[in-house]
Amino acid sequence: MELNGTVTEENLKRTFALDSRTVTQYQLFAERARSEGFEFIARIYEEFAQHQLGLSRQVYGRFLGQIKSLQENLRYSMLSEANSLERFLEYEKKALEEGFNEVAVFYREARVVLELHRKQFEELYNHVLNGTLYKRDTVEIWQCLNCGYLHEGKEAPFVCPVDNYPQGWYKPLCPEL
Ligand SMILES: [Fe+2]
Repeated sequence: MELNGTVTEENLKRTFALDSRTVTQYQLFAERARSEGFEFIARIYEEFAQHQLGLSRQVYGRFLGQIKSLQENLRYSMLSEANSLERFLEYEKKALEEGFNEVAVFYREARVVLELHRKQFEELYNHVLNGTLYKRDTVEIWQCLNCGYLHEGKEAPFVCPVDNYPQGWYKPLCPEL
């Protein structure tokens, strides 16, 4: 059955938006419970946040089909950060206009973070697209995220010589990433 344009599609999108918000709220409420000394309640919030995430996985991935390939997700994330950048600029201007200087400063500084995210997603997307994620023209330093082993070369090791972890555990220690 075609989901496109149905009320059920709208309900699924609404469910995803609300459940995503609940995940964040529960994580923040867990922090608060922990800071007040209620570790047991903090863990309940964290457990329920995990459950909400599990529900979102079904809604966003299985029904709405929005969890795509690595390459598509990177492209989406890059564009999403760019959209947020534009929004934050508008929000900053509005906050200034309305005299909320602290809020304006928040949006200005947060834009620096979003731009870093956008740039990193763009780099990663281009590397995945061009097949250069682990294969460069110049010598790089690669680090294994599991054991910290450093490898110097144009390519990351296929398998880590220290712990046998696969290549996907390597990250390039270049300025952009
Ligand atoms: Fe390793």
